[in-house]
Amino acid sequence: MDSDENPILPIRSTSSTLYQNLKSFFSLNSSDASLNEIGWKKASTVILAVLFICGVMALAFSAIIWVVYDELDGGNRNQTTTTTTPSPTPYLKRIVGVYTNNESKDSTNVQLEKLTHALFAFIRMDENGTLYFKNEKSKHRFLSLRNKAMNETADVKLMVSIGGPNNAQFFSGVLKDESRQRKFISSTISFLKQYKVHGVDIFWKWPSESEKYVFSAFIKNLRDNLNPYLLSITVPPAGIEHQTFGFDIDDLVQHVDFLNVYSMDYYGPWMNEWGTPTGPIAPLYSGVKGREEFNLDYTMQYYSSQTRQLDNFNIIIPTFVRLWEQVKDAVEPGRDVYRNVILKDNMTEGDAYMSRRLAEMEGWKLTPLTWDEQSKSSFIYYPDEGTYLTFETERSLKAKMDYLKEKHFGGVWIWTVDMDDENNTVLNFIRDFGYSTDEI
Ligand SMILES: *[C@@H]1O[C@H](CO)[C@@H](O)[C@H](O)[C@H]1NC(C)=O
Ligand SMILES: *[C@@H]1O[C@H](CO)[C@@H](O)[C@H](O)[C@H]1NC(C)=O
Ligand SMILES: *[C@@H]1O[C@H](CO)[C@@H](O)[C@H](O)[C@H]1NC(C)=O
Ligand SMILES: *[C@@H]1O[C@H](CO)[C@@H](O)[C@H](O)[C@H]1NC(C)=O
Ligand SMILES: *[C@@H]1O[C@H](CO)[C@@H](O)[C@H](O)[C@H]1NC(C)=O
Ligand SMILES: *[C@@H]1O[C@H](CO)[C@@H](O)[C@H](O)[C@H]1NC(C)=O
Repeated sequence: MDSDENPILPIRSTSSTLYQNLKSFFSLNSSDASLNEIGWKKASTVILAVLFICGVMALAFSAIIWVVYDELDGGNRNQTTTTTTPSPTPYLKRIVGVYTNNESKDSTNVQLEKLTHALFAFIRMDENGTLYFKNEKSKHRFLSLRNKAMNETADVKLMVSIGGPNNAQFFSGVLKDESRQRKFISSTISFLKQYKVHGVDIFWKWPSESEKYVFSAFIKNLRDNLNPYLLSITVPPAGIEHQTFGFDIDDLVQHVDFLNVYSMDYYGPWMNEWGTPTGPIAPLYSGVKGREEFNLDYTMQYYSSQTRQLDNFNIIIPTFVRLWEQVKDAVEPGRDVYRNVILKDNMTEGDAYMSRRLAEMEGWKLTPLTWDEQSKSSFIYYPDEGTYLTFETERSLKAKMDYLKEKHFGGVWIWTVDMDDENNTVLNFIRDFGYSTDEI
C-alpha cells in the first residue's frame, strides 16, 4: 500500500523534555476536544465537591449539571430522558471480540451481532513501520471478517490490533525514529482507509520504563492523525515484574477510546522464571506464595489507582482451554487449583491455547469440574493421567461480571471469539449477562 499519499500532521518529538513541555502546554490549552473534556471533568469534580459541602443545595444543582454535562459528554445524543426515568441500559459499555489470524473456525454473522467491536489480531509491522499481513491465511481471515462486519445487521465496529506477543520487537526502534514513526502512522491510516476499518489497537508487549515518554508521545501523535477513527491500547497485568512501568496510564487514558487489560496468562505450560505451578488462566483473586499478586483484582486495583476513568477499561475474558500434562500434588495443602508439574527439558508440557472446539475433538470433557472459591475459578484434575485443565465456566464468568459491575469498569474483551465452542457459549453468556437489565 502506498502510505505517502496521506500527509500526516507534524508529530511530537519523542524526547522526554519536549514531551514534558508539550504535556504542560497542552494541559493549559483547551482547544483540543478530548482535552476540553478533561478540563470539563476537572471542573465538574470541583463543582461536585462544592455541592457536597453545600449539602442542601445539592439536588437543585446536580439536576442542572447533569443536563449540561450530558450535552457535552454525549454530543450527538438526543435529549429525551435526562433527569426522570432513564431507560434501562446494559451495564457493559463494550463487548470487544478478538479474532485470531490462524484459527480454523471462521467468523460468523451471529457472533458479530453480539459484539460492539470486533478486533482482528494481529497485523504486523516491519522495521520501517509498514503494516502487512502475516500470510495469505491471515489476510483471507481478515477479509472474511471485514465483509461480515460491514453487514448492516451487525452494527459492530471493526478494529485491527497491531503488534502482539510475537510481533512487538520493532515498536521501540520505529517509535524512537521520527521518520519511521511517521511512516508507521501513515501506513496505519492507509490501512484503515483501504480496508474500511473503524480503528486500531496498539499492542506493544511491553514498553520499558525508559520508553514511557516515547510511547505516550506516539499515542498522541497517532490520535492527532487518526480522527475520526477509534484508538485503543492493550495494557499489561500489574504485579508481574515491571510490565506496567512503560505506561503513563492517566495520560494515555485521555487519548484513547478504551484500554484492553491483558489480565491473564499468570500460569501456563511454558518455561518461566516464577516457578512452575499450574493455576487458573485468569484468577479473579488470590495466588500462591511468591505470586500473591497474580490475579485480576490486583491488576484492576492498580489501574484504579492510576486514573479515575475506570469505564474506559476492558477486562479480558478467555474462551480457550488450557491443558497441562505431568501434573502432581497441590503446591500448598488445601489449594488444589495450584499444582506442581514435572518438567521435561525445563519446560512444562501441555497446550496453552486450545480452542474449545479442538478440546472437544480431542475428547476432553469439560465436566465434572472443581470450583476454587478463593480464586473464583474452575479446573479439572485427573490424578491417574496427571492431566489438568482450566477454563472459564458460567460460575467464573459470573464472578468476573459481578466484579466488573461492582467496580464500574466499562467492558470486556473476549480472547478469542474463534476459540469459543460451536454454540458460542462464552460469548452468549457475556452478551446475555452484560445486556441483562435485571439486578443480578
Ligand atoms: C435526534 O432526533 C432527530 C429528530 O427525531 C433525528 O433526526 C436525529 O437523527 C437524532 N439524532 C441522533 C444523534 O439520534
Ligand atoms: C496460532 O498461532 C499461535 C501462535 O503462533 C499458536 O500457538 C497456535 O497453536 C496457532 N493456532 C492454530 C489453530 O494454528
Ligand atoms: C447479513 O446478516 C444477515 C443476518 O445474519 C444474513 O442473513 C445475511 O446473509 C448477511 N449478508 C451478507 C451479505 O453477509
Ligand atoms: C527498511 O528500509 C531500509 C532502507 O530503506 C531497507 O533497506 C529495508 O529493506 C527496509 N526493510 C523492510 C523490511 O522493508
Ligand atoms: C535447565 O535450566 C537450568 C537452570 O537454568 C540449566 O542449568 C540447565 O542447563 C537447563 N537444562 C536444559 C535441558 O535446558
Ligand atoms: C451445542 O448445542 C447443541 C444443541 O443444544 C448441543 O447438542 C451441543 O452439545 C452443544 N455443543 C457444545 C460444545 O456445547
